[in-house]
Amino acid sequence: MLDKIIVEKINKQINFEFYSAYVYLDISNYYAENNLNGFANWFKIQTQEERDHAMLFMSYLQNNSAKVELGDIKAPKFVYEDFRQPAIEAFEHEVKVTAAIHDIYGAAYELKDFRTMQFLDWFVKEQSEEEKNTDDIIKRYDLFGHDAKGLYLIDSELASRVYTPPTLVI
Ligand code: FEO
Repeated sequence: MLDKIIVEKINKQINFEFYSAYVYLDISNYYAENNLNGFANWFKIQTQEERDHAMLFMSYLQNNSAKVELGDIKAPKFVYEDFRQPAIEAFEHEVKVTAAIHDIYGAAYELKDFRTMQFLDWFVKEQSEEEKNTDDIIKRYDLFGHDAKGLYLIDSELASRVYTPPTLVI
């Protein structure tokens, strides 16, 4: 049986993960509109990962007989000034997701809810990858993205990303 504080926080996280999916879909659409189809591909796959995260949190509640409460998903309202900015938004967004997961972890720790802590361990690790992946895009853009050939090469590299299902199974 999960404490109601944990159930509330996880329900909030489900919404945040779906919102993250929406943020990345918006970024993917921006790049697609600008014919950077590799960047668009990378962020579309990121959308799928975020949806997976939301579903994992949902399954966790359901497996523990807790009620899932779906809320409205806010529309992303970003205006991108250049091709670099969406990557910055993505990195900053991931830092916020990390903080949200740490917040649930902190509450679980206070409540001695070891089950939730163990479930969240996967997300704690995943977040370090999520931050690194988006930071890598910024760094590569800064190194190579300022001329057409460099941008083309980064775009080709990002086009090769393929969707892989999460390693966490619950
Ligand atoms: Fe679901 Fe990118 O964190």
